[in-house]
Amino acid sequence: MQYQRSRNPTDLKCQTISDFQHRRKRIVYSRESSYSRCSEHWLMLKPLVKWAGGKRQLLSELLDRLPKKWETYYEPFVGGGALLIELYNKRMLKSAVISDLNEELINLYHVVKNYPYELVEMLNNTEFKNEKETYLKLRERFNEIIGNPKYSIERAALFLYLNKHCYNGLWRVNKSGKFNVPFGRYKNPSLPPKEHILEFSNMLRNIEILNLDFEEAVLSACEGDFVYFDPPYQPVSETAYFTDYTSGGFDYSEQKRLAKICKKLTKKGVYVMVSNSNTDEIKELYDDFHIFVVEANRFINSKADRRKGATEVIITNYEVERRETNSCTLDVFI
Ligand SMILES: C[S@@+](CC[C@H](N)C(=O)[O-])C[C@H]1O[C@@H](n2cnc3c(N)ncnc32)[C@H](O)[C@@H]1O
Repeated sequence: MQYQRSRNPTDLKCQTISDFQHRRKRIVYSRESSYSRCSEHWLMLKPLVKWAGGKRQLLSELLDRLPKKWETYYEPFVGGGALLIELYNKRMLKSAVISDLNEELINLYHVVKNYPYELVEMLNNTEFKNEKETYLKLRERFNEIIGNPKYSIERAALFLYLNKHCYNGLWRVNKSGKFNVPFGRYKNPSLPPKEHILEFSNMLRNIEILNLDFEEAVLSACEGDFVYFDPPYQPVSETAYFTDYTSGGFDYSEQKRLAKICKKLTKKGVYVMVSNSNTDEIKELYDDFHIFVVEANRFINSKADRRKGATEVIITNYEVERRETNSCTLDVFI
């Protein structure tokens, strides 16, 4: 199966009336619910996948520190895309470029964008049961077709099923690239409903989706654009639990490479925001940026009490004017 060729982000910028703007209205949004509708019947989206390091718990801190305005939004470590989705819910997106190195996650987004109805049909498969035996059988099938472009839609459906039924929504592959997370034993895991997938697809219509390393993904960013980097975090201690989202890993030399890219983008006039763990090494890398220490429940841990108490940093290359973000109106940004 062939994907539609991605459009160049510059083309996106040239559109005078975007799909987002078509639906422009002056409405106040509450950010409480995820699947609920606002008063004008828009579905409020939430991430399609459970994702380690997902930023839903840090959203208000991130929203408080956005630049005042920007052109194209870039999210090169998109994962579940918590901030991207929040910006969409608040109608704060014009055009966007998202990327992640995880090929199966990006395949899911391509399929949601281009084949949402086919995906919904596959997700209605009665075989997708919440039982260990079924899980292992479907995991085996997924591993047979993993990375195979002939089976993109099936891979996307299985990826979603596995994500919702596996242990803690983790992504982990063995040395031969096969997904090997055990069954999660949840009481009532749910796959995203049809209307959510269709609305997600609608969001992705104006978004360029890439499967590239972060450095390449931001090559087209130019003055006035905004890049949010949410890399795999620097472990806070040697024994800290750290998730390997991709087979490559993300060690300190990667953190250094990222800081270098942030400096390059700063010179180009791009707004940059980074989140990471609150460690001396990270703060040193960004000592000429604005650094905010914030509280977050970051760790991927099934025991709620062990998730508490972590602090993180939000780093920006621009002055932050704190503002009230419980609600916003479209006119501010679009
Ligand atoms: C902390 S997670 C992002 C979470 C996301 N902000 C969310 O809300 O769900 C980091 C992501 O970076 C991706 N990643 C790891 N190394 C990468 C690289 N070199 N380039 C691009 N993406 C990478 C991982 O696959 C993972 O999805």
